[in-house]
Amino acid sequence: MQKVTISSSFTVYESVDELPQGVSQLMEQAVATRKTAYAPYSRFRVGAALELDNGQVVIGSNQENAAYPSGLCAERVAIFHAGAAYPNAKVVRLAISAASDEKVVDAPIPPCGSCRQAIAEYELRQDIPIEIYFMGETGKILKSDSLKDLLPLVFDKKYL
Ligand code: THU
Repeated sequence: MQKVTISSSFTVYESVDELPQGVSQLMEQAVATRKTAYAPYSRFRVGAALELDNGQVVIGSNQENAAYPSGLCAERVAIFHAGAAYPNAKVVRLAISAASDEKVVDAPIPPCGSCRQAIAEYELRQDIPIEIYFMGETGKILKSDSLKDLLPLVFDKKYL
């Protein structure tokens, strides 16, 4: 028997002012996209903006449903749209911002487990990692250099 340790690393930015220029623009698009969230049930609004290697930016926001599980997170709305609109493009980076109608969200909000699994499929089929920047409404931004830092033991097609 042996104990195995898997480590992940993240970069912490104190505020959007510290982000590299191209990235702060992408994060601004994620922030703006929160306005398009349809979130009457959770009142939690998430915006995502994906930058592709062809220069296109694809956005997504969470879309809820009266049948709760039928709704979809912002990240998956964005990445599925990117896959449909630009099937041959690679995803370079993803910016995520979340806010609530009920309180100030000042902690970085990471993508949920289902979104991590969905993003993994896209990272695994391209030869470059996807940088993921995530924040709340205000405060620090966390960056992972790859989806693998967020989902180290990923389930993928090699197990099928
Ligand atoms: N949500 C996202 O859009 N992304 C996540 O990664 C976490 C959760 C949405 C789903 C739902 O509409 C609301 O936030 C509350 O869970």
